[in-house]
Amino acid sequence: MGRVLSREEGGVGGTEFELTDTDFRFIQWFMHKHAGIYFSDRKRTMVYGRISRQLRRLGLRRFADYKLLIEQDSEERVGFINCLTTNKTQFFREYHHFEFLENVMLKEWSKQGVSNLNFWSAGCSTGEEPYSFVASLYSKGAFSTFEQIQIYATDLDTKVLSHATHGIYSDDAISSIPPKYLQPCFFKGKGSQLGNIKVAKGLQQSINFQQLNLLDEWNWQEPFDLISCRNVMIYFDKPTQEKLIKRFCQQLKPHGILLLGHSESIGSCSDLFKHLGKTIYIKQ
Ligand SMILES: C[S@@+](CC[C@H](N)C(=O)[O-])C[C@H]1O[C@@H](n2cnc3c(N)ncnc32)[C@H](O)[C@@H]1O
Repeated sequence: MGRVLSREEGGVGGTEFELTDTDFRFIQWFMHKHAGIYFSDRKRTMVYGRISRQLRRLGLRRFADYKLLIEQDSEERVGFINCLTTNKTQFFREYHHFEFLENVMLKEWSKQGVSNLNFWSAGCSTGEEPYSFVASLYSKGAFSTFEQIQIYATDLDTKVLSHATHGIYSDDAISSIPPKYLQPCFFKGKGSQLGNIKVAKGLQQSINFQQLNLLDEWNWQEPFDLISCRNVMIYFDKPTQEKLIKRFCQQLKPHGILLLGHSESIGSCSDLFKHLGKTIYIKQ
């Protein structure tokens, strides 16, 4: 699709739906206010594409009519936010984080006599990230070493969370799972599930999936040994990123670990964490 012209620009013709400058400003404001997500003007075509699917489903021609629905109907509002989140993920993404967990942190926690591990996968999308953590922990015998392992996995988007909770993935997902985790931690589907894989039930039970907007209040009972918030803050503006990094720091145990995505950093909060390289941070 080429550039989406707005009505103000005199160019609605040729596009299927009407998305004016005012509409786009509303979307920018709404997503920033409710999800922390910032859409620059360059994202307009992408936004148009995603909104189009919603308008087509509802038989609407103008975003302005959809806006009325969003304002009145909370379910439609959730669908609107869901359609504008970017959920790209995969198993064992940024594998060096799992190597660090297995080769460094598990030994360290064990040496320190830690008995319970508490992790948070913040912005877990369809679940590949928390399932990779449990597979990684399982492969190193952590479920025998530690008395209790709890992984909280949260996302704003209710649709991806539903997928994550079911834990069923298509064949394509297999290619990103190193073979040493595949056989012990995943089942291959049969019959109607042929070609799909599912995470072993015992492992699935150690993950607690919850809907959570990172901008809202958190009510965690216990501090975390590790927080993974990878490829999430990249969509937020600088002040929102900074606020979150400070809140993550407060939510970690002393010397707790923060993992960020490959193009993310702690920015101006360098007094709170020591950088161990490859976007791995330890609370100071
Ligand atoms: C690109 S995915 C990253 C998934 C995974 N962490 C990874 O690195 O593969 C970003 C996720 O962040 C979620 N997200 C965006 N804004 C959020 C917010 N304000 N609160 C919670 N989750 C949010 C999106 O719904 C999306 O599923």
